[in-house]
Amino acid sequence: MRVRKAIIPVAGLGTRFLPATKAVPKELLPIVDKPTLQYIVEEAAASGIEHIVLVNGRNKSAIEDHFDIAYELEDTLRKRDKVALADEMRDISALCQITSVRQMQPLGLGHAVLAGRAVVGDEPFAVLLGDDLVRTDDGQRPGIGQLIDAFEQTGKGQVALMQVPKSEIEKYGAAVGTPDANNPRQFLIDKLVEKPPAGTVDTDQAVIGRYVLPASIWPLLESTTPGRGGEIQLTDALAALLQKEGLGGYTIDGERLDAGDKVGFLQANLIEAMSRDDLRARVVEMMRGVLERFDG
Ligand code: G1P
Repeated sequence: MRVRKAIIPVAGLGTRFLPATKAVPKELLPIVDKPTLQYIVEEAAASGIEHIVLVNGRNKSAIEDHFDIAYELEDTLRKRDKVALADEMRDISALCQITSVRQMQPLGLGHAVLAGRAVVGDEPFAVLLGDDLVRTDDGQRPGIGQLIDAFEQTGKGQVALMQVPKSEIEKYGAAVGTPDANNPRQFLIDKLVEKPPAGTVDTDQAVIGRYVLPASIWPLLESTTPGRGGEIQLTDALAALLQKEGLGGYTIDGERLDAGDKVGFLQANLIEAMSRDDLRARVVEMMRGVLERFDG
């Protein structure tokens, strides 16, 4: 069955970016001039996803507003002859069908994904996490699209993996296993562990926030009990799926940026700015000045 739907959990409190996120959802913090979440919705839409389920929480309704039609804003822009900008605003609301559901208690990522069950139903679906940006070249298949292809080719659920220094594996879901000799992007997973304490697993393969999962994950998520940090972990349900019917690890051809980390967020801003023709020269000059001042 084709992968048409995607869940994006957005209920998190964004504590790492306080006070910026006291009143503004962290998903709406801009990378240059576009909210982080819009990059992710665009990635999903460009990968063929037709329906996105946002799993939201209290006091973050600005997220739904961002993907809604902003009639007054558009009208004002058109009256001021800013037609292209008005059209751009309208395009945001046409990216994808969006349904918003609530995660009423912050019980973990697995719990958040489960909140999307009623909308997704009995079909395979993608999951994209808002902190992970996956940059691909223009014209290239976007990150989640590559994972959808791997799912359709193998018939197995897929998690995106990236290589990290072994000393950093404790910050991620960790995949233990062996590279697939027949496909350099595929990793044969033997074991998955959420944020293993230092020295307890020997691997450099970290889970990043892109998944394509079969509907058979639902009962496994239902029966997942609190794990690392007392939270219902998606990784624990994936470990159960791995035992039951197998699960592939896939290295996306692209660059993953961690917008959930302060320096990663700045890096994402700089890389995005540098990739825009109208900004590059000024940004280079600005960065030279900053480096001379603080690093020279
Ligand atoms: C989540 C997942 C973790 C994964 C990470 C990727 O953790 O639980 O397995 O490695 O996303 O960004 P979080 O960073 O939300 O704590």
